[in-house]
Amino acid sequence: MLETAFTPPAPTPRYIPPNAKPTLQGYLRYFRIMAKNPLEIFTEANFEEFIQTSRVFGQKYALVHDPEAVRRFLVTNADNYQLTRMRRALFEPLIGDGLLIAEGDLWKRTRKALTPVFDHRNVRGFAPLMRDVAAREADALAARDGETVPMSRAMLTLALDVLTACLFSGDDALDADRFSRNLDRLLHIAGMPHPLDLMAAPEWLPRLGRGEALKIIAELRDQVNALLSARRARPKETGTDDFLSLLMNAGADEGVPLSDTEIVDNLITFLAAGHETTARTLTWTFYLLSKSPEAFSRAGAEVDAAALATVDPADWSVRLPFVTAVIKESMRLYPAAAMFSRLAVAPDRLGDVDIAAGTEIVTSPWVLHRHSKLWDRPWVFDPDRFMGEAANKIPRHAYMPFGAGPRICIGASFSMQEMVIVLAEFLARVRWEHVGAEEPQPIMRITVQPSTDVPMRMTRC
Ligand code: HEM
Repeated sequence: MLETAFTPPAPTPRYIPPNAKPTLQGYLRYFRIMAKNPLEIFTEANFEEFIQTSRVFGQKYALVHDPEAVRRFLVTNADNYQLTRMRRALFEPLIGDGLLIAEGDLWKRTRKALTPVFDHRNVRGFAPLMRDVAAREADALAARDGETVPMSRAMLTLALDVLTACLFSGDDALDADRFSRNLDRLLHIAGMPHPLDLMAAPEWLPRLGRGEALKIIAELRDQVNALLSARRARPKETGTDDFLSLLMNAGADEGVPLSDTEIVDNLITFLAAGHETTARTLTWTFYLLSKSPEAFSRAGAEVDAAALATVDPADWSVRLPFVTAVIKESMRLYPAAAMFSRLAVAPDRLGDVDIAAGTEIVTSPWVLHRHSKLWDRPWVFDPDRFMGEAANKIPRHAYMPFGAGPRICIGASFSMQEMVIVLAEFLARVRWEHVGAEEPQPIMRITVQPSTDVPMRMTRC
C-alpha cells in the first residue's frame, strides 16, 4: 500500500431516498445527465448493492454488479444475451459489420478468423514497432524540457501512431498525414454519443454533426480500400506481418477468407475500438503518477533497474511488475469502456433476480471497480492491489476493464503490451508534473475522457 493515499477526481454518487417515486422531472433530469456525463447518473446505492432493477418508459433494466451474475450473463449464459441497439447506432456508420457490432453467425465466423491475428506470437511481433514509436515520441517530449504539453493530445497522437504503424507498417501507399487528420476530426465531432442515440430515437431523426462525420468516414474507408488494392497488386512481401496482411490471410487456411469489405470493416474496427481506449488509459495513467510522487519514483526506479536495452520489449511487463500494476490500477479507476449492456433474449435468473426476456442488462466497470463490497478503499489510487498475493485476492469478474466471456476485448494483450512499453520509454527519459489550474474530471463520451487537456510540465531525466 502507498504511504500517501491519493483519491483521484470522480463525480460524487447521487443520494436518492430508497423509496423515491419516479416523476417526470426525475426522468428529464435523468436524460439531461445521460447526455452530459453518464458517470454522474450513478447513486450511492449503485456502489453498495449488487443487482438493481428499474423501468424507464416501459423498458426494463437490470444494473448488475454481482461478479457471479456478471459471469452468468457475459460468460456462462452469454448466448442468451445480445448487443443493444445503441451499440449498433453508435458504431455501424463507421465500422459496418466489424467484429465489435457483429452478431450471431457473422460474429462467430469473424471472431474465429480474427483470433489468430491477435495470438501470442503476432502480438509479440508488434513489440519492436511499439517501442520505436514510443521511444521517438518520448524523445520529442524530453526535448521540450521545461515546456508544458497537453498530455491528452500527446497520448491520442501516440496511440494513433502506434496503431497505424501496426495496421499498415508505414506502407507508402497510405497518405498517413491525411489519414490521421481525418481520424482526428472524426474523434472531435463524433466522440460524443448523440443524446438522441441515448434515448434510442429512430434512425431517421436528424442528428447534428452526422453529415460531416459520414463524409470523413467515407474518405477513411476509401483510403483503406485503396491500400488493400495496392497490397493485392504487389507481389507478396516477407516481413510485413502488419494487421492488413494478417487480415488478408485470416481464415484462408480454413477456406473461409474474409471478403474485402470485411477486411476494411475490421481494420477500421481496430482503430475505433483500440485508439481512444488506449490513449485515454495512458493519459489517466500519466495523470495518476504525476499526483502520486511515491508511485512515480517507484515506477521510475523499476525502469532504471530493469536494464531494458537488453530485453525483448515483448517481455518488459515481466521485468516491470509495478509499472504494469500502475496501468491496471489506472484501468480500475478510469476504465475506458465504463459501461456496456446486453438484451436478454429469453427469461433468465441473475443472482436472486428473475430477468424477463427483453430486459436490458447494464454492467459498468466504473461501478464494479469502485464497489464497496468488492474493494478495500475503492476510491483511492493504490497500484499495490495488483502486486503479488494481493492481486490473487481480487474476486473473479470484480475487475474487467476488457470485458469478459466470448466477447472479451480481442486487443487486450496488444494494448497491455503497448501501454507497458510506452510508459517504460517515457519513464526512462522524462518526468512530468500536472500543472493544470483544475484537476481533470472524468466524462464518459463513449470512452472515459478527461475534462481538460491534462497539461503537464516536462523535465528531462
Ligand atoms: C485500454 C485499451 C482497451 C480497452 C479498455 C478495451 C475494452 C474493451 C471492452 C470492455 C470490450 C468488450 C465490450 C463488450 O463486451 O461489450 C472490448 C471489445 C473489443 N475490443 Fe477492446 N479495448 C481496448 C483496446 C483494444 C485494442 C487495442 C483493440 C484492437 C486493436 C481492441 C479491439 C476490440 C474489439 C474488436 C472488440 C470486440 C470483440 C468482440 O465483440 O468479439 N480493443 N474492448
